[in-house]
Amino acid sequence: MIEKAFIFDLDGVIVDTAKYHFLAWKSLATALEIPFSSEQNEQLKGVSRIRSLEKILKWGNKTISEEKFTRLMFEKNEEYLNYIATMDDKEILPDVPRVLAYLIKKQKAIALGSASKNARIILEKVKLIDNFQVIVDGTDVSKAKPDPEVFLIGAKKLGVDPENCIVFEDSIAGIEAANNARMISIGIGDAGILHEADYVFKDFTEITEEFINMLFITEKV
Ligand code: BG6
Ligand code: MG
Repeated sequence: MIEKAFIFDLDGVIVDTAKYHFLAWKSLATALEIPFSSEQNEQLKGVSRIRSLEKILKWGNKTISEEKFTRLMFEKNEEYLNYIATMDDKEILPDVPRVLAYLIKKQKAIALGSASKNARIILEKVKLIDNFQVIVDGTDVSKAKPDPEVFLIGAKKLGVDPENCIVFEDSIAGIEAANNARMISIGIGDAGILHEADYVFKDFTEITEEFINMLFITEKV
């Protein structure tokens, strides 16, 4: 059997930190008097910190100095770090540990592929870090999702061809990145939003062992 590898996004897939990113961007946008909707927030999911701020400023038709840009990114991250300061394993999304344990039992390669520079801190806080053979995060990549770089680095480090990788993602940009990498893309969230994904599930409680077994022998079409 061809070896398969599984690459997990972090925010919104393993833990519900997407809500904290939203809150922190929302207060930044409010301070700048830029309207910011939850539809716009969907476009920030999976997107790097720098690209996210660029998008918000564009939506608000604002230009700011480089110095202010750097300060705002810092302040956004400080607010976000406050939200995650008290995080523990209770914030792991339902059935993520069950799916990870099943993949480990089946001796599958597992990587993290996240845009976040805070990924390692979070994995340590929720005590899942040891589940991952490889961690690729925002400190390793130069191109943000939807560029496939983050997932291609993960595949390379695991020694598995991209077409034998399966990606779990909650963001439009991340699904696009997985598809651009020619990997099987599994959306976690709303099928209306993640319609570019090969498969979509509301959350991991819907992912059965039968479905995972099928992935072990499925090729990307
Ligand atoms: C992604 C999130 O995982 O990481 C984005 O979906 C976030 O919302 C990005 O902007 C960068 O994260 P951080 O923690 O480095 O600011
Ligand atoms: Mg995400």
